[in-house]
Amino acid sequence: MSGTITLTMIKPDAWREGHGGAILDRIIKAGFIVRAMKLVHLTPGQAGQFYAVHKGKPFYESLVKYMSSGPIVAAILEKDNSVADFRKFIGATNPAQAAEGTIRRQFGKSLESNAVHGSDSDENAVIESNFFFNRTEWV
Ligand code: CMP
Repeated sequence: MSGTITLTMIKPDAWREGHGGAILDRIIKAGFIVRAMKLVHLTPGQAGQFYAVHKGKPFYESLVKYMSSGPIVAAILEKDNSVADFRKFIGATNPAQAAEGTIRRQFGKSLESNAVHGSDSDENAVIESNFFFNRTEWV
């Protein structure tokens, strides 16, 4: 491996509405290498486990319901400085505050329905990658 990893998800409505291909195209053209990828429909229990760090926050229950409302694409991406670069690339959590040209500005609709997820640290990138993938599923 020649860079660090980050974990992304294309969220349910972005996928359902057909933006998955355009989002992946932008991610790849921005220089992120896909090391693993899968289409998965999380159960509420799995979504709750993934976002366990937010348990107790006012938006947690709604987030869990939303993230288990349909299929998502989960992917491990590799690049130098991947966590920070990907967060810059996708834009602020709230699409209304995301910079022009970012994924969330283009495809996000609201704070919850913000098109994509990106890990917030190298440590969480590993934890989140292990949530979705066995090491044998990486290429
Ligand atoms: P994500 O980067 O996937 O991490 C947690 C998610 O919670 C976040 O994107 C948002 O989609 C969602 N969310 C909903 N409300 C809030 C909020 N008030 N603050 C932060 N995240 C929120």
